[in-house]
Amino acid sequence: MKSRRVRAIIAGATGYSGRELIRLLLQHPRLEIAGVFASRSSEAQPVAAIHPQLTGLTDLECRPFDEREIGQLDAQLIFLATPNEFSHEVVPGLLEAGLTVVDLSGAFRLRRPDEYPHYYGFEHSRPDLLRTAVYGLTEFARDSLHQARLIANPGCYPTSVLIPVAPLVEAGIVEPDQPIICDSKSGVTGAGKTPTNNTHFSEVTESLKAYSLFRHRHSPEIAQGLSFDGLQSRVVFTPHLLPINRGILSTIYFKAAPGVSSQEIARVWQSQFSRCPFVRVFPEERLPEIKFAANTPFCDIGCVVDSDSRQAIAFGAIDNLLKGAASQAVQNANLALGFNEADGIWPHGAGL
Ligand SMILES: NC(=O)c1ccc[n+]([C@@H]2O[C@H](COP(=O)([O-])OP(=O)(O)OC[C@H]3O[C@@H](n4cnc5c(N)ncnc54)[C@H](OP(=O)(O)O)[C@@H]3O)[C@@H](O)[C@H]2O)c1
Repeated sequence: MKSRRVRAIIAGATGYSGRELIRLLLQHPRLEIAGVFASRSSEAQPVAAIHPQLTGLTDLECRPFDEREIGQLDAQLIFLATPNEFSHEVVPGLLEAGLTVVDLSGAFRLRRPDEYPHYYGFEHSRPDLLRTAVYGLTEFARDSLHQARLIANPGCYPTSVLIPVAPLVEAGIVEPDQPIICDSKSGVTGAGKTPTNNTHFSEVTESLKAYSLFRHRHSPEIAQGLSFDGLQSRVVFTPHLLPINRGILSTIYFKAAPGVSSQEIARVWQSQFSRCPFVRVFPEERLPEIKFAANTPFCDIGCVVDSDSRQAIAFGAIDNLLKGAASQAVQNANLALGFNEADGIWPHGAGL
């Protein structure tokens, strides 16, 4: 007998991550789209008119966000690809309505409510949900994801840093007396679909610039992910805007413990990620590049250690809209619902 599909809603469907979610769910064997929504003030429009890439693939209509309409959709799950403030506002009601929530924003990622005013510009009204939300860096959250009700999907930069570095900190391979320096570069879709003075074409093209030094929202998230709560000086994170469409490369510098070689680091990763379909360990001779990871759901990692100085340089490359957002959200939903982790994601997951 064919198993019934689980019905899922996508909010923020007019955005870049929302578009990737629609595309992944259209090919998903066990999830079906119950409805797609944009902001409350938006006008109803066919999805294919908003995202011409999806022409001929769906006749869904994207509608203004409306809790009452959402409550009547007989859905089990909702993906929120919406701004932080909006997710913060609507998540409690969606949980009360019985939906499982996968939130792609940062509204429920940090465990400490006192970090929200500084990094996000608002007081957090639900510290209880910060304590119970599952931080969905899938490869490290498997056990907590099953039947989770609120999943805080990780930020794109933290995904590219934490996947390579967290197992090395855990294994005692990273010397604690020097900061871990994360030099990260992202394509411009990382800033969402609305152009700003800093992100429109002529500002970005043929250049490379750093931004949000010491105050980027992903700094506390990286520190938290490495269990450095309250010790943020152990991580220096510098994001850069790269004049390409999609993809992130994080170059991460740290001092390795005595006697640690590149081969030992590769062994730690192979053992940590042996059952993880979306992490690929690259050899020293062929390090990760954005073009290998872009339009894929993988996080590509690699490392070189200079044995004399013990200086190590690790790399994490992802597609910010896929492993950094939509495909990781689907990985998390799959595990929450007891499906196969790769359902709907790969091998059919190449971008449009
Ligand atoms: N872009 C990335 O690489 C990336 C990676 C990881 C996580 N994220 C996070 O994922 C979320 C979506 O990011 P994105 O880049 O896909 O954004 P985006 O392209 O700017 O799209 C934002 C979506 O949210 C809707 N929206 C905007 N203001 C709203 C409001 N006040 N109330 C309800 N809906 C509203 C928009 O609808 P309208 O069209 O009607 O305005 C649109 O559908 C953000 O929280 C972002 O931080 C993004």
